[in-house]
Amino acid sequence: MASRRNQSRTDDSTASVASSLAANAALADQLVSRLLQEQNLKVMPALQILNRCLSIRSTISTTSSFATRQQVAHNSSQIVLEHIGQGLQATCYGLSGTDIVYKRAHNGSDNTEHLETEFESYQKLRKAWDTFPDMVKFVQLPKAFDFVDPRSEAGKDWWAAHATQFPSAHQKPTGVLVMERILPLPRVVRHALIDHFLPPPLSNQAASLKLSQQQKQCLARVYTGEHSTQSPDGILQRPIGAPRDPAVFNLRNFPLYADMMETLGLELDVFAKVLAGAYAVIHWAAKIDGDDIEFVLGTSVTKPEEGILDFQHRAMKLIVLDFGRCEPLELDEDGAQAAGAALIRNSPYTPRPSTKNAKAQELWDIFKDYYLFHSNAILEGAGMDESGLPEQVMEKVEQWYEDMEE
Ligand SMILES: Nc1ncnc2c1ncn2[C@@H]1O[C@H](COP(=O)(O)OP(=O)(O)O)[C@@H](O)[C@H]1O
Ligand SMILES: [Mg+2]
Repeated sequence: MASRRNQSRTDDSTASVASSLAANAALADQLVSRLLQEQNLKVMPALQILNRCLSIRSTISTTSSFATRQQVAHNSSQIVLEHIGQGLQATCYGLSGTDIVYKRAHNGSDNTEHLETEFESYQKLRKAWDTFPDMVKFVQLPKAFDFVDPRSEAGKDWWAAHATQFPSAHQKPTGVLVMERILPLPRVVRHALIDHFLPPPLSNQAASLKLSQQQKQCLARVYTGEHSTQSPDGILQRPIGAPRDPAVFNLRNFPLYADMMETLGLELDVFAKVLAGAYAVIHWAAKIDGDDIEFVLGTSVTKPEEGILDFQHRAMKLIVLDFGRCEPLELDEDGAQAAGAALIRNSPYTPRPSTKNAKAQELWDIFKDYYLFHSNAILEGAGMDESGLPEQVMEKVEQWYEDMEE
């Protein structure tokens, strides 16, 4: 059976995973403070800029208008809310000059309840992140500061004080998650994404895309499990940069597929290892299923001193967010099935097994090895490292793709 064969390969390779983990950590330590100057980057070809910058070890020094505006706002007391993103359950507003976001639930009590659950999930996750820092060293979990409950007295007071900051359509009190802001990719990266990936039929849009205020909120979704174009052994067909509508090139949640990452010379194997560590901690330390979560490349402000935010030195981060659909996980077989199902639903973000594509399978093997290694290390603390639960998660995913490929 394929899964048994993979299992014994996994057992054999545990020692090598351990030693390569140590080697990776050492490498990461060496590279962690790589500082890139915008003026030096600007003269490079787009591919080289993306190769240098889209590494989770880079800090980029930028004087872009966004950074300047934020720095000016930070130094003054004026607060303006800026629309920075929208999903099915909420709209996100950034507070200028701060690293704070208000995630306001859409009208309807379900959305507010999901946001409250999300706040609880963030608290569990924060504890888990603090307990296993080495496993999540390269994945930033935004801080969740508060949940404003519109039904409570404190929530009513909050809305009385803040409603007029919101656009008129969003002044009705609903749940608000007050959280840390993920900053966009800096201008030099955004422009390079346009220069490198804008499909030729859309090239006349390059200049307006670069100037568009809306497109400045640029984050890249890291889709290690999908390809943008049909490969000969065909994983998926998606026009580059335009996942659903080829006429739209959207930088707000720019899809960075596995083949694009490869073209840019990004280390897919490092992303697979980093994602595996995050999932292990999410499943077995925070004990939530990870349904519908997102992994994006963005930046964070650096903090040269306590209370000082430096918007002009921005560290590249792989960030995990959006825990609104997550459910608590029991440490039993049902829990393992739920965790596997959530991984399948979230598939573009994680490597996936494939009997037809050797590279995809190789990446999946790396992800699986690291996921099992980290998961069992976490479960060991609860005396459950022999439970086989993480193995069941991996088997569920493998079985699903095996059935699909038949
Ligand atoms: N903390 C944040 N900082 C910056 N942008 C964010 C933050 N949280 C969410 N976003 C942006 O807003 C979008 C919608 O937020 P999300 O949490 O996914 O909402 P929903 O739960 O409705 O899907 C995200 O895809 C992302 O682009
Ligand atoms: Mg979302």
